[in-house]
Amino acid sequence: PAAVGFIGWRGMVGSVLMDRLRAENDFTGLEPVFFSTSDAGGAAPAVEGLGDTGTLQDAYDLEALAKLPVLVTTQGGDYTTAVHGKLRAGGWDGIWIDAASTLRMSDDAVIVLDPVNRDVIDAALDRGVKDFVGGNCTVSCMLMGLGGLFRNDLVEWATSMTYQAASGGGARHMREVLRQFGDLNASVARELADPASAILEIDRAVLARQRGGELDTAQFGVPLAGSLIPWIDADLGDGRSREEWKAQAETNKILGRSGADTVPVDGLCVRIAAMRSHSQALTLKLREEIPVAEIERLLDADNEWATVVPNTKEDSVRDLTPVAASGSLQIPVGRIRPLSMGPQYVSAFTVGDQLLWGAAEPVRRMLKIALG
Ligand code: HSE
Repeated sequence: PAAVGFIGWRGMVGSVLMDRLRAENDFTGLEPVFFSTSDAGGAAPAVEGLGDTGTLQDAYDLEALAKLPVLVTTQGGDYTTAVHGKLRAGGWDGIWIDAASTLRMSDDAVIVLDPVNRDVIDAALDRGVKDFVGGNCTVSCMLMGLGGLFRNDLVEWATSMTYQAASGGGARHMREVLRQFGDLNASVARELADPASAILEIDRAVLARQRGGELDTAQFGVPLAGSLIPWIDADLGDGRSREEWKAQAETNKILGRSGADTVPVDGLCVRIAAMRSHSQALTLKLREEIPVAEIERLLDADNEWATVVPNTKEDSVRDLTPVAASGSLQIPVGRIRPLSMGPQYVSAFTVGDQLLWGAAEPVRRMLKIALG
């Protein structure tokens, strides 16, 4: 069995990856070597059916890393920056599979989302590419849902307005938003319990709490509970956020398109107080007029995870929400209807678990592909 090094398996994305590897029985057929940035020498995690998984290796020990033909990291971008270049400079030519954005746009790396770009991945393996990186969560979830239109080259351009969950920031961000909700609730609990209390009084008290500077906002910088944040990731200085810049850059790289073939994809990225599923509202300009029923058929047929939600109120509110999508590999896509701008314009809304298709699952599947 191939020896595979795992770095960052204890973090949030890493834990989801471990769960998926266990659920799919992927550990049989490989020999995992677990690394740690902080606990070298500690006990490696138990894996059912594998017996002793030994002790944790030091994740900064280049010699230990370089012994392995495949490394899978969900440790984050700083780790990739610290280690990847040195390993390559030292002559390591194993396969590096990464969830962080650091290497994504490098010419030597492929962004992996195999239900959408297996052809791009296979061609890269054939030409000796060794760096495989999971895409931005919003981009991956969008392409899983809308693959039927993008892969059939039916999209002239798209705008995506996002509703991104707290988990995109990290585990501490999820805790922070829940603490904020709890804190806000506690500040008006007595009034809330009294049906005769005045709602505008409650609203004033909540707003005072949100503005009062006492809420814990260490992660997000401003209150997210009961509000939203219309900016995600760095300010590129040209009016765009880095998250917004990724939409077009990564979508086209995943699809293997560049230059004159680039499909414009742009829009605003917004953080909302959802937990772990990112949503996005899309406006698509199609290259031709396509009846809604045919669009739905194409989307449903594209991959086994995209699931069309009929465009009714009842179906949409039940099946097309972060609450419905979280913890599932299914990518619901709905609200598909022609727009009044003209016959080639349609709307869509899609939701995806940011930790599954948005992070761990493309990485897990790439590992399977790499091991053949
Ligand atoms: N940048 C994304 C977010 C998560 O903040 O939601 C990682 O792709």
